[in-house]
Amino acid sequence: MQVHFRNTRRTERVDGPLRVSQVLERFDVNPETVLVIHAGQLVTKDHLLPDDAEVELRPVISGGAGPARCHACPAPSVIEVARHRAAYCAGHFVDHVRSQVRAAIDRHGMLSYDDHVLVAVSGGKDSLALWDVLLDMGYRADGLYLGLGIGKYSDRSGRVVADFAAARGARLRTVNLADEHGFDIPRATADRTRSSCGVCGLSKRYVFNRVALEHGYDVMATGHNLDDEAATLLGNVLRWQTPFMARQSPVLPAAPGQLARKVKPLYRLGEREMAAYCVIRGLDYVVEECPLVEGNTVLRYKDALNELERRSPGTKTQFLFGFLDRVQPRHFARDDADPGEVAPCAGCGMPTSVPRGPDATGEAVCAFCRTRGRLLRGGGGRPRAAAHR
Ligand code: AMP
Ligand code: FES
Ligand code: ZN
Ligand code: ZN
Repeated sequence: MQVHFRNTRRTERVDGPLRVSQVLERFDVNPETVLVIHAGQLVTKDHLLPDDAEVELRPVISGGAGPARCHACPAPSVIEVARHRAAYCAGHFVDHVRSQVRAAIDRHGMLSYDDHVLVAVSGGKDSLALWDVLLDMGYRADGLYLGLGIGKYSDRSGRVVADFAAARGARLRTVNLADEHGFDIPRATADRTRSSCGVCGLSKRYVFNRVALEHGYDVMATGHNLDDEAATLLGNVLRWQTPFMARQSPVLPAAPGQLARKVKPLYRLGEREMAAYCVIRGLDYVVEECPLVEGNTVLRYKDALNELERRSPGTKTQFLFGFLDRVQPRHFARDDADPGEVAPCAGCGMPTSVPRGPDATGEAVCAFCRTRGRLLRGGGGRPRAAAHR
């Protein structure tokens, strides 16, 4: 029988009779990506095709039946983005990434060209790509790397970020948690109140905000992508954590003197797109996950969403964008978002909420200083005055 492929406009011969599913397997075509047409009729997987059949495999997703052309030029594509039903050559894929970042920035008024931007760069694909894109778009973007002391993983991450900064001639600030605050993340496994990932997240938020404020940056950018944000939202919805839902936004406004503005310019781009961007741009990034990340529930939510996305491309964006556009502003924006009274932390001087309730002593100590205090008391750390380069 003759099998006509539409994307590449080629015809292959195979001997029949064969079921449709066998033909698709023979040519390694995912059944979800094509319509199979025999004698002018759609046929399903079990349909038996005679030896003299002429069959057309009509793609429903660009790239479904063999290498597709770029959606913007005649060059062959190197990557498909199923939710956009599009495939791209290398050059047009880079344009696609930039245009999604542009859309994010413009839609939410994230950045202006006068802003001095601090990009938190971990050495992973997302934040390195973000820094690269922002520099290429002409933003004044410095990098901030936080050394977490997680053995070889942190050593390699620090090197990758420093090499990128040197290659681009960009300014990198480095804070080492152990040097500047007397503890590192492996030591945080001793904490009984928070997981080590919890201490890590708290330390990142604290250090990013502090460095941004101390050095007068207008805005702090992180590499959170579509998968991160959709998975976080799913976790919050499953437990109805409305205070977190109130704050989940691609832009968190500044509180002058207390909190730097925070933006997530990659929230419209998936994990796979960011990895592809790094490969295409030749950016060396740390592929390994953090060795302490095991059991992280966000990874389970990402897996669940990927499974849904595989069957229905676009699920993740519908879920996240629907929340951001329609639900969050109407139902959550003001809920639970009141920070209460704020005072300088007795430990570090950074602004923090004043405790309320009958047991409150009135002295405000921030969550970072409380955790740091517990860790240093618990294991003979190296207490030192907090200071930043
Ligand atoms: P994660 O919390 O690991 O998913 O990372 C989210 C974002 O935080 C990344 O995209 C980076 O922008 C930033 N980030 C994470 N780890 C570091 C680090 N060690 N130093 C600087 N920025 C980081
Ligand atoms: Fe924070 Fe692994 S990167 S615990
Ligand atoms: Zn192209
Ligand atoms: Zn403090």
